[in-house]
Amino acid sequence: METVLRGGNVVDPSQQCEGRFDILIGEGLVVDIAKRISTTGRVIENIEGYTVIPGLIDVHTHLREPGGEAKETIVSASRAAAAGGYTSITALPNTNPVTDDARKVEHLRALIDHANLVRIWPIGAVTKDSAGEKLAEIAQMVAMGIRAVTDDGHGVQSAESVRQALCMCAELKIPLLQHCEDETLAGQGQVHDGQIALQLGLPGISASSETVMLVRDVVLAQACKARLHIMHVSSAQAVQWLRMVKSIGIQVTAEVTPHHLLLTESAVVDDGAMAKMKPPLRTKADRKALQEALVDGTIDLIATDHAPHTVEEKTGDFSAAPFGIVGLETAFPILYTHLVKKDVLSLTQLVDRMSCRPAALLGLPYGTLKPGYAADLTILDLEQERTIDKDKFYSKGKNTPFHAWPVYGMPVLTMVGGRVVMKNGIVTI
Ligand code: DOR
Ligand code: ZN
Repeated sequence: METVLRGGNVVDPSQQCEGRFDILIGEGLVVDIAKRISTTGRVIENIEGYTVIPGLIDVHTHLREPGGEAKETIVSASRAAAAGGYTSITALPNTNPVTDDARKVEHLRALIDHANLVRIWPIGAVTKDSAGEKLAEIAQMVAMGIRAVTDDGHGVQSAESVRQALCMCAELKIPLLQHCEDETLAGQGQVHDGQIALQLGLPGISASSETVMLVRDVVLAQACKARLHIMHVSSAQAVQWLRMVKSIGIQVTAEVTPHHLLLTESAVVDDGAMAKMKPPLRTKADRKALQEALVDGTIDLIATDHAPHTVEEKTGDFSAAPFGIVGLETAFPILYTHLVKKDVLSLTQLVDRMSCRPAALLGLPYGTLKPGYAADLTILDLEQERTIDKDKFYSKGKNTPFHAWPVYGMPVLTMVGGRVVMKNGIVTI
């Protein structure tokens, strides 16, 4: 039976569509978008007063399974994604074992098929066990459907390994996603190398530790004619180099996380390890540069770096706590509230950076409500104020510095291939 989503405010940057439209959905696809669609013989869902966007897509999601099921599973992450308005997420390879060969991708795909809620795109490792030396089975993993490679959690330290991987990725037509961190410079750093590190007596992580690898890899990507994507850009210095590199026509893309866009180094004073991640939160000037870069296109897209950890791990000694925070269930509303409502970014730009561009990076036929494409969409309530509550997360990870933040723009319905997977905050499966 076909469904008509009636009278919602549609925002779809992929087809410059903005305004009040009906959307006809049938057989898992968008069939039509028009001012008025006949409802005869069709199910009607009245969504007047709500906003419809192409489903959110996250290119940077740590699902932890296999091996880290106490932190998160593919099922719990899928439910968190549906609750947060995400219709596609990725499965980053820093699991135990690391996803570094075709057999492990096959195993992962079986787990993903079993979860069967949102779309999940496996990402492979760059190097065997992500140890930074010998290359992983990249070609075989691509044959098994991986969309990109990364050793995220670590940057690939060996320049020669990255060069080989980039050349192979160029041949295979997939991007290499780099976590830029020179470990000789970052050392045992815990937080940004600045005022707060001094105040708390913690070792710092400099912006240069990120920028050095960014510049190195841009040079190598240019030589290999490869697609390099810079993960979680955190500093004004990195932005400066990205801007320069893009201005001379080098093919590189970049992402920024919601936390780097909204918080600064001082968050660890109040939130402790809930604000501890890699790369670290930096200064107000860095945050401003990241926001500007997102507006002007120097940074292409927003990714969550959803990194669940257990309560025990995150509430003990600060220095012993692992890096990372969850993001799937907070990303859209905190960004809508603090960037769109404050006129830093338009809603259209936010949707473009959270849906259309992530789809383009991974070559996915989503991030659009064009007729003929899958009915992957998110319906938002932009009017009602709600409160972020970590205890209501579907994610097993409760590690967030955004608990108790008042927000607008909470997703109220998530649809994947025409199937409703979340309605009014309740995940259907
Ligand atoms: O904070 C982080 N956590 N940064 C990363 O690069 C990895 C991630 C994780 O896997 O926990
Ligand atoms: Zn990373």
